[in-house]
Amino acid sequence: MKKLSQSVSYEVKDGVGVLISNNPPVNAMSYHVRQGLIDGLEMAQSDENAQAIVLHCEGRTFFPGMDITEFANPNVLEAPTTTGVIEKLEGASKPVIAAIHGTALGGGFETALGCHYRVATPSAKLGLPEVKLGILPGAGGTVRLPRVLGVQKALEMMTSGNPISAGQALAGGLVDEIVEGDLLAGALAFAKNVVSENKPLVRIRDSDDKLEDARENRAIFDDFRKSIARKTRGFKAPEAIIRSVEGTVSLPFDEALRNERDLFVECLKSPEAKAQQYFFFAERGARKIPDVPKDTPTRAIQKVGVIGAGTMGGGITMNFLNREIPVTIVETSQEALDRGLGIIEKNYASTAKKGRITEDDVKTRMSLLTGALELEALADVDIVIEAVFEDMDLKKTVFEKIDGICKPGCILASNTSYLNINEIAAMTSRPQDVIGLHFFSPANIMRLLEVVRGDETSKEVLATCMKMGAHIGKIAVVVGVCRGFVGNRILGARMRQSDDLLKKNAMPKEIDKVVFDFGFPMGSFAMRDLAGLDIGWERDKTPDKDTNIRHQLCTRGRLGQKTGGGFYDYEAGSRVPVPNAEVEQIILDASEKAGVTRKEISGEDMLKRMVYAMVNEAAKILDEGIALRASHIDVIWVYGYGWPIYRGGLTYYADQIGLDNIVADLERLSTEYNDPELEPAPLLRELAKEGKTFRDYVRLDHLEA
Ligand code: 3HC
Ligand code: NAI
Repeated sequence: MKKLSQSVSYEVKDGVGVLISNNPPVNAMSYHVRQGLIDGLEMAQSDENAQAIVLHCEGRTFFPGMDITEFANPNVLEAPTTTGVIEKLEGASKPVIAAIHGTALGGGFETALGCHYRVATPSAKLGLPEVKLGILPGAGGTVRLPRVLGVQKALEMMTSGNPISAGQALAGGLVDEIVEGDLLAGALAFAKNVVSENKPLVRIRDSDDKLEDARENRAIFDDFRKSIARKTRGFKAPEAIIRSVEGTVSLPFDEALRNERDLFVECLKSPEAKAQQYFFFAERGARKIPDVPKDTPTRAIQKVGVIGAGTMGGGITMNFLNREIPVTIVETSQEALDRGLGIIEKNYASTAKKGRITEDDVKTRMSLLTGALELEALADVDIVIEAVFEDMDLKKTVFEKIDGICKPGCILASNTSYLNINEIAAMTSRPQDVIGLHFFSPANIMRLLEVVRGDETSKEVLATCMKMGAHIGKIAVVVGVCRGFVGNRILGARMRQSDDLLKKNAMPKEIDKVVFDFGFPMGSFAMRDLAGLDIGWERDKTPDKDTNIRHQLCTRGRLGQKTGGGFYDYEAGSRVPVPNAEVEQIILDASEKAGVTRKEISGEDMLKRMVYAMVNEAAKILDEGIALRASHIDVIWVYGYGWPIYRGGLTYYADQIGLDNIVADLERLSTEYNDPELEPAPLLRELAKEGKTFRDYVRLDHLEA
């Protein structure tokens, strides 16, 4: 075997030259991989013992694309480039076969498309996820993929960034053979067959009949733009992909490649791409807990108990059933239990109707679900997740009881949104096994899971819950104990500002517009209408009834979307908020009764008040050690609350604005609106004064304590 670079080697097997890449952990196409491949191809070309060439990766996957860490390097576009590798592959005079396992993504998939043939394992996945990094496929993907799949399907695949299975790739002509068993042996056999049957060197660039439809029907592009407009609002890369494919259809191959290159460079330099690439690593960083090493022992989770079959209990249960983990769910009455189980079944049935799962899946999942009316049914489960009403006394009673019922080693978790996990843990004889698992609603869909680490939670329990979270498809982020943890506490800061703006300055539609235009899926008041205004509303205890806008709305039966109106009106079957004059009058009356003289405010200041109040709260959270890293806060806000990912995350955004600028604005706003909550937090002032960013701030001392 000849070593060509630190990651690429070459050897001849059965008359076939095999180029092998081994660049752990995932074979990203770093500089030395690209250089090794170029050198290796030259060697294989001139090697008379090799009649064909196989491209193979060691380790867990075929190339998943370019090395993203290199994008920050100004020389990233210089040779050796992925495009250079592909030119050599495609131009080779001997057949080149890509042997794909794991994931062939981005530049990795583009490299495979430059080969004359592709074989793959049945479990392999292929895709062009560049759009998720704020860029477009920049090594010929937008020019070659439509030549195989046609324009519509290629656009769908590239603008969603979602991979397809090997089976789908075979059906679409992207893969020539699925190899059962040993991949390399299968690829070598395929290569020898190509040689013995004298099969042609298939170069995707040579055929363009699949582009014909789009050439005759250019409207396909505008129709496609319209179809993805809502989902891609604010993102730059999807439009760049469409423009590049327009080039594919109208330009000769090499010119289309140059067009793609120009768009790629434009995207790569954009703030959106930088933010999305930052977020790629932030998400992966959330899995790392400094004092809980990777090899921390974990407990097996094979049976789950859920207490409460309400909104959250039902959704939480589905996560486990989806992974074929049995769940016992406990309720207080047969009626509540039947209702809860019924909703789960209905949800599965509707998913099956949409074709996303089969009827058999529904049956299997429901067969793993057991209902019970006694907590004793949880005696042999590995974890209990409590999702009863948000009432401390009730939760304490439940934990005291399950402590006496559940087997030793069983993890006792609460889905509380706000309450103190330490107080709950103190009710048990095993506080080391108690943890918060804060799922978000709808719990079977939302990806975020805040894992609340109590003072006594053991590392083993924490590591188990992080692993379990990933297993059920969640993005698990560890947080500390405080009211509302990270996500809801920061949301509270924004809500207080929007409430104050409502009382003193602006109408719901104006406040929400600012938030929506910033990139959130909806504004604060539309969000409340969605959740229901009566959540947490206590009819009789509400102080200041006349000046409390929510109280005024609730007593008029305006409870939100579910009653057809709240802060806004909703037409039957519609979720589009329509401003209502009566509500606006209620708001004006409430201000008057409170003796407030309403004042105009600019959209810019509204945004600053809401977002900078969040930044301020984030600084307090970091200072208190509730979040371990600023990037964790960003992950929580993107996955839990729809923070626009092309702005990186809350603290990343603040770093871009400059913490000194934010401090200056907060000082001005706290005086102008007489709001002590807007006074800059000590940590924010300190970082700003030292010219630092949230990224620079790491505080681990409390972990060692
Ligand atoms: N570049 C650099 N590092 C990468 C990487 C990449 N392309 N892909 C993964 N990594 C790193 C991760 O940061 C992580 O590092 P860590 O252990 O220090 O946290 C490690 O590899 C393992 O990654 P995951 O934890 O994500 O491992 P999984 O097994 O869960 O997933 C994967 C593997 C499916 C390959 C996933 O990592 C992934 O989706 N990678 C990115 C794919 C991608 O976006 N490709 C396009 C790149 S851009 C491009 O190719 C441009 C071209 O068009 C010119
Ligand atoms: P819910 O009111 O829909 O459901 C609670 C269920 O618990 C009811 O079905 C009730 O009958 C049952 N229950 C009450 N006492 C019980 C007991 N002793 N034993 C067994 N079952 C009992 O409430 P929801 O919304 O599901 O909230 C549950 C918990 O999840 C709360 O702590 C809440 O703060 C939290 N949470 C709620 C979110 C939401 O958006 N609804 C989001 C995240 C967390």
